[in-house]
Amino acid sequence: MNRRRAWTAAILALLLPVPACHGDEGRDRAGVTLRMLVPANERPFWLPLAESFSRARPGVSLELEEGPVPTDLRESLTTSALLSGDGAFDLVYLDVTWTPKLAAAGWLRPLDDDFGEGKRAELLPQALAAGIYRGRLYRLPFRTDVGLLYYRADLLAAAGIAPPRTFAQLEETARRLQSPPDRWGFLWQGAQYEGLVCFFLEVLHGHGGFWIEPESLRVGLDRPEAEAALAFLVRARAPGGISPPGVAAYREEETRQLFQGGRAVLLRSWPYVWRLAQREGSAVAGRLGVLPVPTLSGAPGSGTLGGWGLAVARASRHPAEAVAFLRHATSLESQRLFCAPTGFAPARIDAYSDPALLAANPFLAELLPIHASATARPVVARYAQASDVLQRHLTAALAGLETTREALAAAARETRLVLGDSP
Ligand code: GLC
Repeated sequence: MNRRRAWTAAILALLLPVPACHGDEGRDRAGVTLRMLVPANERPFWLPLAESFSRARPGVSLELEEGPVPTDLRESLTTSALLSGDGAFDLVYLDVTWTPKLAAAGWLRPLDDDFGEGKRAELLPQALAAGIYRGRLYRLPFRTDVGLLYYRADLLAAAGIAPPRTFAQLEETARRLQSPPDRWGFLWQGAQYEGLVCFFLEVLHGHGGFWIEPESLRVGLDRPEAEAALAFLVRARAPGGISPPGVAAYREEETRQLFQGGRAVLLRSWPYVWRLAQREGSAVAGRLGVLPVPTLSGAPGSGTLGGWGLAVARASRHPAEAVAFLRHATSLESQRLFCAPTGFAPARIDAYSDPALLAANPFLAELLPIHASATARPVVARYAQASDVLQRHLTAALAGLETTREALAAAARETRLVLGDSP
């Protein structure tokens, strides 16, 4: 929390007070400037989109502020900026889980009148659903994510092992093919942040469990399925396990870099890894396979639904231009511009059969059915607090400070308190 606050304070100090052009309704001689916060590592890929938007709408430009990469940190920062209500940002680039909170607080402009059935039908239904809160549309999906299991097809084939579909097969494969510390069996996102929740949820669903039922707000963390799921994580990183001890500090990029360097047999991550790992110079180019996440039974698992979308801040003084940007960013041309070089998965359905995108990222063809069976995180306005509770207790269990049962009992109790008077 302190780290989040420090980021928030540091970045808000840079952003506020709002530059002079905003004092004058954001319209100076040069026209209108829309402002948006993006993760620092994505900014280079947003620039071509900002340029194409300005060309399509002369006089309107998009200014991109660089923010921290982890979603949790940017959520705090976005919340602080929107809370101040002074229109520091016109556009909000938001994770699938942020809509309920920002919409419930009244910080987002409803988009129902701007985007009707025609536009909505262009977008992946699950990704679109993440932008709807209490029947109103607040966010258009821009790029999507789903949890996947990457494996070293070359190593498995050489050992005559079939790609793992159950947790037991995953453990067995990892154990047989690893040679720590040079090559580990299984990498995942184990740091105390949202990525750990995404991974844990897949393991939890694969064990038949659930976290929060969005309708009834029933909490399933103190059930045996959850204990078995957490035991899998704890066993993986325990001495003699299949994951390096450092996994409890890894986010997406650390795990990708290790996997791409040939340092692991299996990796849980998002679709973007595919393109980067297949690039020239990658130690694993041409040696990868990808599967849905595992389950107890071996039936294809359901990866966590991730992804990022765009919304218009209610305090924006330029809603018409901001809506125009949403329309522009979700066009096929813009999806090509952003997703071809990055390997991010697009939000438009037609992008998955687009020759230009398929040429850049042939893996897209396999992704659509996996995406269709993804599991969304619970749609609750107090999502950030519920996630924080889970992150803390998962981390305590991974560090051996709490047993799996203690961690989950405490997490269940605190989650019920968080949800108790949720709007
Ligand atoms: C990815 C996903 C996002 C998720 C985050 C966790 O960015 O798109 O939904 O919350 O990873 O690290």
